[in-house]
Amino acid sequence: MQSQNVLPLKTWSHGKVILAGEHAVVYGEPAIVSSISLGIEVELQRSKVKRAEHPFLATIRSTFEKQYSIIIPNLHIQIRSTLPEQSGLGSSAALAHAIFQAYGKLYSINITDKEMGDLLMQSEQFMHGRPSGIDAAAVTHTGLFVFKKTVDGPVIQRLPSTYTKHIPLCFLVYSGKPKETTGEMVQIVKELLIKQPTRSHIIHKIGTLVKEITKELSIGRFPYSHFRENQRLLEELGVVGTKAKKMVREIESVGGFAKITGAGGISEGSGMMVCFHNDIEKFEHALKKRLWSYTKLRVGNIEKEAQSKHDIVSIKQEES
Ligand code: MEV
Repeated sequence: MQSQNVLPLKTWSHGKVILAGEHAVVYGEPAIVSSISLGIEVELQRSKVKRAEHPFLATIRSTFEKQYSIIIPNLHIQIRSTLPEQSGLGSSAALAHAIFQAYGKLYSINITDKEMGDLLMQSEQFMHGRPSGIDAAAVTHTGLFVFKKTVDGPVIQRLPSTYTKHIPLCFLVYSGKPKETTGEMVQIVKELLIKQPTRSHIIHKIGTLVKEITKELSIGRFPYSHFRENQRLLEELGVVGTKAKKMVREIESVGGFAKITGAGGISEGSGMMVCFHNDIEKFEHALKKRLWSYTKLRVGNIEKEAQSKHDIVSIKQEES
């Protein structure tokens, strides 16, 4: 080990929100994604006692060990998170990224972007089976961008601030923790498309919506209704549970627009939903009345915020 004197040491990594295009992105369609100011802080500490290691943490450690031919001794990893797990906000990629960064600091290893991308793809594959790579890309980029998986690797197109300033305040409303993992949800869609190949039109329609949203943003317009449309297509794909569907319809009944973000979930919650409303006060009033957990954030131009905000904010009902 380089030096145990640097311990304890802290790192922080941000989460992400997919505005449009999840699931279709696995099949090569584009998706719009933004870094967010919620994230995960990791603190590496000395440890004398050997504790059982969580399989995901063990994978992160062994992936790093293999990449740099080192053996990492027994360490305690303290995790503080403002990202709810399994909610579509990229918590596993953020956790892995923060730990890889921490190991890099500990060993004075300058992890190149390419190496970080490879490390993250391995930890994401352990967690999610065959991911598109969007979460790994989102945790290493800030701001708003279009992600596309291609045979030659991921293509990332940063969207300029002229696009993002027209995006209204985004509400993240929690529909509950999904029972299914991201990997299981990706598999469910894969099986559906094998059994019913005609359903692949849904994938192309989602891709078309993403292209249209990007175009609208480029001319200073925010196409609210495209988010409703994307939600309907995700419902057709079978990744949204009854509870989230009901919440979406209620949000629409008060003039809002909502869609799940990330993999979704069927039998229980479907994770976080991105929601927009052109009357912020009215929408907050409606959410509070229903006692729904939510948080508000700006997507797009949040680089500074994402890098500096280390405080712990739990997503909970605000005092009315
Ligand atoms: C998960 O954040 C997004 C999915 O499209 C899966 C993936 O792209 O790997 C559901």
